[in-house]
Order: sequence, then structure tokens, then C-alpha cells
Amino acid sequence: MVQNEQNCWDQYWEQGAITSFGSAIDNYQGALLNIWQAVANSFVGEVNVLDIGTGNGAIPLLLDKYSAKSATGAIIGVDKANVKDCIVGNTLDISLRSGIDVAALPYDKEHFHYVVSQFGFEYGLSPLAIDEVLRVMKTNAKLVLVMHNKDSFIVQQNSQELKFLTSPQLERVTQELKHFVEQMGYLASAEAIRQAQRDERLEGLRKAFFAELKMLWELDNESYKNAGISNAVDYLFKTGISWTVAQKLDFIDQVFGELNAHKQRLAQLVNAALDEQEVLALLEQLCLGGCNIELIKVVKESDGRVLAWQLVALKYAAS
Ligand SMILES: C[S@@+](CC[C@H](N)C(=O)[O-])C[C@H]1O[C@@H](n2cnc3c(N)ncnc32)[C@H](O)[C@@H]1O
Repeated sequence: MVQNEQNCWDQYWEQGAITSFGSAIDNYQGALLNIWQAVANSFVGEVNVLDIGTGNGAIPLLLDKYSAKSATGAIIGVDKANVKDCIVGNTLDISLRSGIDVAALPYDKEHFHYVVSQFGFEYGLSPLAIDEVLRVMKTNAKLVLVMHNKDSFIVQQNSQELKFLTSPQLERVTQELKHFVEQMGYLASAEAIRQAQRDERLEGLRKAFFAELKMLWELDNESYKNAGISNAVDYLFKTGISWTVAQKLDFIDQVFGELNAHKQRLAQLVNAALDEQEVLALLEQLCLGGCNIELIKVVKESDGRVLAWQLVALKYAAS
């Protein structure tokens, strides 16, 4: 199943996760949370905030939760993908808007006191995107970016998983599984299932498929587990054993279609991650655009692993 590039994020946010780390966590913790808590604490009086590549609003929710109680105003989250259209803030008004590219922001110049982004801005990074962000920032507005770092463990883990998902072995498993299912045919009754189990040719195909599956597991057992392939195969051969051939093939397309969308998100993440040279180029463009760089640092986990880049810039010149 071929997905277009943007569709892969539409699908992800539609499932309801708040963060891009899956639905296992409610929102970001640790070093990332600390960054956004500090930003929210600095809100004074009325603030207009723009969050780029907002997804389902993880950063707007954190900024709202930790904003100084005296703060008022609005946070707008924009994303190129389709994202949730309704999330509610306690202190600030939150609205999320889908289908908006950072390189074409539908806002007046000098509108926002803060432009923020976490793992979003770098996906659309271009000279035009930088100009757009600077255009909508007020004089004295702050830009706070948390961006993927090429040396981070997130990028390393995702690169490994991407290698697994693009491996020819995964493609072979898919093809062997489809072939086996087609050859098995429609097993409408318990007797048909028993007959299939006694059929030596089918037994040979079954063994060939599980041998391919084992090789896939040996290739990278961590990524294999994350991909949920065993569970899907189990489900197909237990719950789905009496489905028609067409139903089984649809199920296989759906499982591998989701893995394909996941693969595209990982590829975008790995491509978006910045190395030191790319960060320097970004800093230069921000300075040329009228910003002072207040902070550029490598954010680390408490165990010392690299997590991200953090950049804070102050726009001192009017657009
Ligand atoms: C990794 S997610 C980050 C979501 C959220 N900020 C977070 O920290 O959980 C990256 C998001 O950037 C969005 N994105 C990619 N390119 C974009 C662009 N050119 N303009 C706006 N959003 C973009 C994607 O659709 C995706 O929702």
C-alpha cells in the first residue's frame, strides 16, 4: 500500500496520541518537560504563542498547564497534517489548525510574542520557513526550538528501526505470507482446517514462511518486536483462520501499510535531524534576519545521552 508523505502523519494523529513518542505517555517528561515549564513560567500578561508542527498539541498543553496564573492569551498550534481540532486549555485559549505549512503562515506580521516548536520546525526547515517565522514574530519576541539532533539516541534508534523496515527480508516475509494465504485458500470449516494441516505442500509453504520470519527476527529482534509482526501473524492464524482469502489479504495489507506509514515518519525524522554544521547555518540565518541567539545547547537525558538541540533566539529588529 503506497501512502503519500503527509498522509503518514494524518494517520498517526488520527489515532489520538498526544506526543510523537506514541500513546504510552500522556505528555513529555524529563528534560523536555523542563524546557517547556521554564518557557511557560516566563509568560507575563497577555501572550500570543505559535507552535509549529504541533501534532495533537503536546506543547500547547504543556505551556498552558505550566503558564503563570496571571498570564492570558492564546496558543495556536499549526501543522501541515490533519490534527485534532479541539483541545481545551485552562489558562490560555488553545486552538490547533491543520494543513498549515511553516513556509506559508496565515498570520499578520509582528503578531506573536513567542514562536515555539518541538521536533516540528526542522521538518519544514528552509530559508522561506525562517523568513516566515521571523515575519510573524513581534519585535522582542522569542523563538524557542527543540530540534532533532543527529547524535541523539532518538535518531539512532529510529535509524536502526528504519533500516529494519526497509530491509528486503521484510518484503520477503510479506510476499511469502501472501503466497501462503493464497495457497491455503478459504478454510470455511474445522474439517477444511484439519485437511490443510495434513496437506504436505501447504505444510512446506508454512515452514518456508516461518523460516523467513525467523530470519527477520534474527536481523534485529528489537525492531521486530516494536513492529508487532508476531502478534499480527498470530492473530491472522488464530482469529482470522476462517476468513476468506480476500479478508486475509486485506488484513496483511493493512498491517504492512501501517508499517509503511511508520517507515515514512521515521525517514522524515532521520532526514530532519540536524548536525552541528546545519545548526550553525540556521543560527547564521537567524542572526541575518535580526535575531540575537540567547541559547544554543545540546539537551541531554539525566544519564548523559543526547536528546535534542535547544535554541532560543530574541528578535530585536522589526520585520
Ligand atoms: C515529530 S512530529 C512533532 C509533533 C509535536 N510537536 C510533538 O513534539 O509531539 C512532527 C510534526 O511536524 C509536522 N510537519 C512536518 N513538516 C511540516 C511543515 N512543513 N509545516 C508544518 N508542520 C510540519 C508533521 O506533520 C508532524 O505532525
